[in-house]
Amino acid sequence: MAEPQVLQVSDLHAYYGQSHVLQGISLRVQEAECVALLGRNGVGKTTTFLSIAGLMAKATGHVTLGDRALLGQPPHRIARLGVVYVPAGRRAFARLTVKDNLEMAVPRSINKQQAIEDVLSVFPGLRERLTVPAGVLSGGQNQMLKMARALLVKPRFLLLDEPTEGLAPLVVQQMGVHIEQLLARGVGVLIAEQNARFTLRLSRRVYVLGKGVIKLERSGDRLYDDQEVLSHLVV
Ligand SMILES: Nc1ncnc2c1ncn2[C@@H]1O[C@H](COP(=O)(O)OP(=O)(O)O)[C@@H](O)[C@H]1O
Ligand SMILES: [Mg+2]
Repeated sequence: MAEPQVLQVSDLHAYYGQSHVLQGISLRVQEAECVALLGRNGVGKTTTFLSIAGLMAKATGHVTLGDRALLGQPPHRIARLGVVYVPAGRRAFARLTVKDNLEMAVPRSINKQQAIEDVLSVFPGLRERLTVPAGVLSGGQNQMLKMARALLVKPRFLLLDEPTEGLAPLVVQQMGVHIEQLLARGVGVLIAEQNARFTLRLSRRVYVLGKGVIKLERSGDRLYDDQEVLSHLVV
């Protein structure tokens, strides 16, 4: 067995121009672990993900995967090391078919057919949609496609930014099942959400963010019942 992997963020600061948005964030995610990053709109969840993924022009502190430093590395390299960001909202390439969207995401070093079969076993709902343009997918199917594209890179850690945004309750439930499958495969998942209930049910650790700082960290298997956690959130 390989060494268990940890994605670690320590004293992360990030800026948009003069605006000091993240003011010393520290968190960690282990493989096969689901961690929630919760907090109201505008507290810095997306900025935390952008910083980890190498997409912030100005960020300082430490982000490490095992003993490798990620901060300062270009985004494609961070993705290749196994830390993959799935942005909120954005749609897959609308005019390309689902199949083309998937094929484009497969790194050259990996067998395309095999890799796509593998993600279709995680997201079977995409199989019957392979030949339609991604633009006609429902919100839920689009989110599955984005996650499937991320999986094709063989991530060790997924950063899911608001994966349930705009989805119907039944689809949210389905999304939870998919995320549990990823965890069972050893992928570490960090979820940024305003949908606290959904995320807390999946997570064994939660960080509550308030205006650029971690206000509260808790772990346990009944976080969805933790009154202290809930008192910080709109649920
Ligand atoms: N491109 C940007 N330029 C300047 N300020 C930004 C930009 N993007 C986000 N911000 C500001 O940074 C703060 C954190 O935003 P964000 O990380 O998107 O929060 P969250 O994802 O928690 O809603 C907010 O105050 C937001 O207005
Ligand atoms: Mg956000």
